[in-house]
Amino acid sequence: MIRFTVNGERLETDVAADTPLLWFLRDNLQMTGTKYGCGMALCGACTVHINGEPARACSTPLSAIAGKRVTTIESIGSTPIGKQVQAAWLSEDVVQCGYCQSGQIMSATALLAKIKNPTDTQIDDAMAGNICRCGTYNRVRSAIKVAASGATAKPAAPSKSSAAKAKA
Ligand code: FES
Ligand code: FES
Repeated sequence: MIRFTVNGERLETDVAADTPLLWFLRDNLQMTGTKYGCGMALCGACTVHINGEPARACSTPLSAIAGKRVTTIESIGSTPIGKQVQAAWLSEDVVQCGYCQSGQIMSATALLAKIKNPTDTQIDDAMAGNICRCGTYNRVRSAIKVAASGATAKPAAPSKSSAAKAKA
């Protein structure tokens, strides 16, 4: 039996200890916000926090999280930094297809929890493992700076592209 917490909830499971955390989250807990991209710790789509540190859920077996705290995209908005980051993501209209974005947000929140006002280099270093096929990198960086500055009061207006998508 492996015991750990996910988003503050204590869990125990007898699922095989070598099961990747990603599949436990998605298949056993039906938490599908954490995405499968490469399955090889190369793209960052599956990023969660383990004891506050960003980690790739696709390559983390359940045995490695015994006694640890897992935080996923489903609850990151309940933390002050997560709320700030999500607001900045909206105000900067970061998302394109969205597939990589939960991983991007998890890496960004972990960065800002450690460094309140990161430099461009620190942002690039922290986000280097999060790949975006849509090329949202500049907006990700802007949103991190907005979140760091606390200036996310701007209400998120629907972008032209999202309005067009909504009509389609
Ligand atoms: S799916 Fe985990 S890093 Fe790509
Ligand atoms: S927004 Fe499409 S992959 Fe990043």
